[in-house]
Amino acid sequence: MDRKDIIRSPFFYVGDKYKLMPQLKKLFPKDINNYIEPFVGGGSSFLNSVGKKYVLNDIDYNIILLHKELGKYADKPKELIEKLYNIIDFYGLSCSYRGINVPEEIKKKYVKTYYSKYNKNAYLKMKQDYNNDKNNVLLLYLLLIYGFNHMIRFNSRGEFNLPVGNVDFNKNVYTALINYLDFRKNNEITFENTDYKEFLNNIQFEEGDYIFLDPPYLISMSEYNKLWNDKKEIELCQFLDELDVKGVKFGITNLIYHKGKENETFSDWSKKYNVYNVNSNYISFNDNTVKSSSREVFVTNYKKQ
Ligand SMILES: C[S@@+](CC[C@H](N)C(=O)[O-])C[C@H]1O[C@@H](n2cnc3c(N)ncnc32)[C@H](O)[C@@H]1O
Repeated sequence: MDRKDIIRSPFFYVGDKYKLMPQLKKLFPKDINNYIEPFVGGGSSFLNSVGKKYVLNDIDYNIILLHKELGKYADKPKELIEKLYNIIDFYGLSCSYRGINVPEEIKKKYVKTYYSKYNKNAYLKMKQDYNNDKNNVLLLYLLLIYGFNHMIRFNSRGEFNLPVGNVDFNKNVYTALINYLDFRKNNEITFENTDYKEFLNNIQFEEGDYIFLDPPYLISMSEYNKLWNDKKEIELCQFLDELDVKGVKFGITNLIYHKGKENETFSDWSKKYNVYNVNSNYISFNDNTVKSSSREVFVTNYKKQ
């Protein structure tokens, strides 16, 4: 599997596993019955995996809401795209995929930031409208697409509070949406929205089930890492030991070193299992520099097939 064969998730989620999937997939079991993912995020992993059914979960209410909303259009991609275009046009956002481009004079004046300059006011209005009435989930999707780093962030008052990003609805977004809907149409998928332990405790595991875990990385920075700490890392490792005793196959990604920090808990725990180095060029979303000192790994409790 090359990068070109990989389906990109339409959420462009921070920390997504899109670039790693060609390497990780080679290490997945060959025949997966239920593909189970407790930290699904934007979904770039399940979209590139083969299971008979998909059982997915994330603690983030909004990402699950978005998966469920887009899934409603699995059989009618045209309808979704039209609805999105209507919103884009209503607010007057640029849409490079349809040739609704930022005017040349703005492009020349703001060479590297013209999308954000052009879309700023329209984005603000869309954000205000969404915060006044959260029923239109497609507004949330477009806030993510046109927003800073394609992130979802709410303040303590429950208001979406990210600024405009320097990007618009382009060919990548269109292609990712179409591929996502196609996958949703052709596969049996359920989504849960709870803590990973509750999610996994409620599953009656069957022969051939596989759990892929991509938890928040303890020693890297990202919005959802606020939800994670040493205690949770230890609990997760213990929980996986229990699954191993039950004979359930799992594979988990993590960072062992990063920016001079070491995740000793995970590093020590992983020695009981099979540890594969992942060639990730781990990129910090804060400074976009390649951290050659990082070590990202994939740990499995089964042998490579
Ligand atoms: C590294 S991201 C997953 C990214 C995903 N593999 C992708 O490719 O888009 C980790 C996810 O774990 C979720 N998460 C954090 N704490 C959790 C918990 N206790 N239970 C379930 N999900 C949790 C976060 O909301 C976040 O979406």
